[in-house]
This record gives sequence, structure tokens and C-alpha cells, in this order.
Amino acid sequence: MAENKRKNYKSLTDDLTEILLTEQQIDERIGEMAEEISEYYEDKQPILVSILKGSFVFMADLVRKLNIDCTLDFMIVSSYGTKSKSTGAVKIIKDLDIDIENKHILLVEDILDSGLTLSYIKRILETKKPASLRICTLLDKPDRRTANITAEYVGFTIPDKFIVGYGLDYAERYRNLPMIGILNPEIYADE
Ligand code: PRP
Repeated sequence: MAENKRKNYKSLTDDLTEILLTEQQIDERIGEMAEEISEYYEDKQPILVSILKGSFVFMADLVRKLNIDCTLDFMIVSSYGTKSKSTGAVKIIKDLDIDIENKHILLVEDILDSGLTLSYIKRILETKKPASLRICTLLDKPDRRTANITAEYVGFTIPDKFIVGYGLDYAERYRNLPMIGILNPEIYADE
């Protein structure tokens, strides 16, 4: 049984052509980001809003490194189209539970790619009149940007490669990998 599990896990990493960021690199960088975020939000009692599903791992690791008083909320959004080609349209599957008027909001994302998802969410949330709204993304792929948006907190600026792991998926798989890797193009060649 244990042997089978190991075999299955290894088959996920076999689909990677390269490990882009190791578990340790990610952990260290999140520690630095958490320090910066804790300093800025020290007396602001921010609401951290995780944009699911991709950001669930980052959110969990980030909040445990923050030494501030904060609350959490979650939105589930999904872009239409396939994983490697987004159409730009965004669907809100689950909205916020908390009223954000006059509150300091930090949006937590796994990746800023075209920027269409975050610019859409930002526009919607700004109509609810938060005291402030900032963006924290673990990964930034500036080469792919089509929307005019930047994040205040960026973990890593990365090249335009199809990546998976640490919350990021291909066809809902690979989210549980603790590292971030480049997916072998053969895996999505027929899409
Ligand atoms: C991914 C990611 C971001 C978005 C970034 O989500 O989590 O939310 O794409 O892309 P963009 O900058 O081009 O808009 P996805 O819609 O794939 O859903 P998921 O989080 O459930 O994987």
C-alpha cells in the first residue's frame, strides 16, 4: 500500500521537465513576504481574501507566518476556456461572506498571468468600498499580461512556462505537489 502511494506520487513529478521552485525556496520567500505584509498591516486588521482554488496552499502557508490580527475569506472563481488558453471571462462561483466596506483587503493569489482574473475581481470589490485593496501573488508572469494590473507583493517573477504544483493545476491534477515545476508539453499537447 505504502509502496503504491509512493509510486503514484512519483508519477506526478515524472510529468515535470524541470523543478522551477523547490519547497524550501517557496517557504523562505513566503517568510520574507509575510514579514513585509505583517509590517504594513500591523494595526489595520486586514481581511485576507484567497482566490480559490489555486491559492489555497499559498494562503495556508502565508497566514501561518503572519504575526498580525487578521481575518480570512474566500472567493471561488474560474476562468472560462482551457488551462493553457484563458478566454479572459471570469465566473464567480462563490462570493465573499464578509462585508468589506471600510476594511483593508489583501487579495491572495497563486499566480498573476494575463491579469484578467484579478482585474475583474478588483473592479468588483472596489464597488464595495474597502478602505484599501492590495494584491499579493506568489507568482508573477509579466510576459503574459494583457490587463493593466500589478501586485504590491510578488513572491517570484517567472518565465512564460506552463507550471503546476503548490496549488496550481493542469486538469485539476498536480495541485498537491509541494514544489512548482514546468509541465512536460506532451501532457497537454492534444488540448
Ligand atoms: C488561475 C489562477 C488565477 C488565474 C490567473 O486560476 O489561480 O486565479 O488563473 O490567470 P489570469 O491572470 O490569466 O487571469 P484558474 O481560473 O485556472 O482556476 P483555479 O484557481 O481553480 O485553478
